Amino acid sequence: MAAMAAAAAGGMAVAGSGQVPAMPASSWLGSGTRKSLGALRGFRAASSASSCSGSELRRAPPAQFVRSQENGRGRTRALDTSTAASAAASGTLLSSDGVGSPVGTKKTGEAPSETLHQEFKDLIGDVTDNEETVSITVVGASGDLAKKKIFPALFALFYEGCLPKHFTIFGFARSKMTDEQLREMISGTLTCRIDQRENCGDKIGNFLQRCFYHAGQYSSEDNFRQLDTELKKHEGGRVANRLFYLSIPPNIFVDVARSASRGSSSSRGWTRVIVEKPFGRDSESSAELTRGLKQYLTEEQIYRIDHYLGKELVENLSILRFSNLVFEPLWSRQYIRNVQLIFSEDFGTEGRGGYFDNYGIIRDIMQNHLLQILALFAMEPPVSLDAEDIRNEKVKVLRSMRPLHIEDVVIGQYKGHRRGGVNYPAYTDDKTVPNNSITPTFAAAALFIDNARWDGVPFLMKAGKALHRKGAEIRVQFRHVPGNLYKRSFGTDLDQATNELVIRVQPDEAIYLKINNKVPGLGMRLDRSNLNLHYADRYSHEIPDAYERLLLDAIEGERRLFIRSDELDAAWALFTPLLKELEDKRVAPELYPYGSRGPVGAHYLAAKHHVSKCRITHRGLFQVEQSLQLQDTEQFFKAGLQPPPE
Ligand code: BG6
Repeated sequence: MAAMAAAAAGGMAVAGSGQVPAMPASSWLGSGTRKSLGALRGFRAASSASSCSGSELRRAPPAQFVRSQENGRGRTRALDTSTAASAAASGTLLSSDGVGSPVGTKKTGEAPSETLHQEFKDLIGDVTDNEETVSITVVGASGDLAKKKIFPALFALFYEGCLPKHFTIFGFARSKMTDEQLREMISGTLTCRIDQRENCGDKIGNFLQRCFYHAGQYSSEDNFRQLDTELKKHEGGRVANRLFYLSIPPNIFVDVARSASRGSSSSRGWTRVIVEKPFGRDSESSAELTRGLKQYLTEEQIYRIDHYLGKELVENLSILRFSNLVFEPLWSRQYIRNVQLIFSEDFGTEGRGGYFDNYGIIRDIMQNHLLQILALFAMEPPVSLDAEDIRNEKVKVLRSMRPLHIEDVVIGQYKGHRRGGVNYPAYTDDKTVPNNSITPTFAAAALFIDNARWDGVPFLMKAGKALHRKGAEIRVQFRHVPGNLYKRSFGTDLDQATNELVIRVQPDEAIYLKINNKVPGLGMRLDRSNLNLHYADRYSHEIPDAYERLLLDAIEGERRLFIRSDELDAAWALFTPLLKELEDKRVAPELYPYGSRGPVGAHYLAAKHHVSKCRITHRGLFQVEQSLQLQDTEQFFKAGLQPPPE
């Protein structure tokens, strides 16, 4: 089957039919062997948050853009903004084929008529043999993710001028809906960025005219064949590149992959499929899912999304490390005492209990979002910014990690709490959660990378729902300054003097470094200050949503921020034994009040690993920390390592 998949040129592999569709080799090469645009994206992020906008593209492209033009599918194929603008100015909307029609006169749900096709041809001339289009089908279009994230991200790409000149968007789901109903459903979630509010209504109108709906069963090849017919009408004979976004529960991923591959693969262009986590519940189920998908798709066609990799500051991690001389030399066990990866939400499961109870916070956040950040943070410098080079390095990190031990993990679950006259619910108050559920809504864990760079450095992950605040950050605590001349100014607690680098992923994005400095004046008083790159102060434009970046990457064939199957296997190998043990032993989570800082056990775990905030918070904690430090020191010696200088 896999061999068949590999052989399928351009479109999805056709398994079971025993036939490989005849397609030009070039289309397959387009998705399979195309070089990554990593270099291009690396520079783009550094220069502008929205550098695919039309005006920027009209300027002479810098050298690094040339590569995408050579590929013929790069960002330089921007929306024809002049056509869009003149259509908007004359009060017309663009139909899916770019044909202007008076606002409100086009009957929605109607296939473009022959006359419209003719008008379009008159407008742009005949579609040339190699003119390309992209069709994006959101499977599971009526779901929450699609409504809240996918359609708004596609719209943002459209008005930023990042989508190709010709494109079509289809929603696919089981419920019956007309095009107009789909448009109504999604129009409520579309917004323009504050700095681009001008003509927002027109932009939304233009975008919606390119959105269509097709109802069908997820496992029906026939229904996907009908979709294929619909798509073709809109693609109008162009080389059709097709992207399917599976915004559906994982138990139907394979069904959809099969039906879509047999029913609506592109015959003259690439076909790619984006899948969202959860990719299984453990090593076994994940491997099974991968096997299932690979019966119908090649690895090159599968884009496993982890939206945290699309966040601006996560993307910036590599730039910070590899393009600033001051950081990379410090990036090792020699100078770094611990690294914390923190995710917290100030709300509970809120309606997602049904999904969440089956997975828990470790699978929902740690095994993917936080682990991906960790891998990027800790990887060796890749040979280049090409996707495979980066993913090779990430997978090495994951494979060098110690599987998690239960004693290095704390789990919690939020309980009801009354504050300020308001009752906050317990996790088990969620109607979709069983009353006796022991699914963790909080977890803290210490992970270790047993390689030369990171040996002995704890990577502390903390993730929780219904905590006191919302945010995600990476905190890097450095070791003490050996023989610190100003020791006395810091009293007994030298921890107060260590440098800390904080990468605040969200909200209010920032990168700051805590340093020591002298308070100005004639005396000698020391202070702690932040060297602060605060994004809102430094940049006026809004930061794009992670889904925008990732969708654009998938359209461009840039795989750097997507998870390869061996990365996924390595990630599950780390967490599966722990998850099995927790579940087999039915380990009860420590309860913490809704809106608190989480279970006390997490503070002890952090103290055990020398996270400075956790020292001397109260007497008990201090004593525990002292004994644990001693234990750790012995462990360091046993392992033939230097204990961290204290
Ligand atoms: C998802 C999780 O992957 O990420 C959710 O399933 C979580 O439980 C969400 O709420 C958080 O994403 P963001 O981008 O809002 O931090």
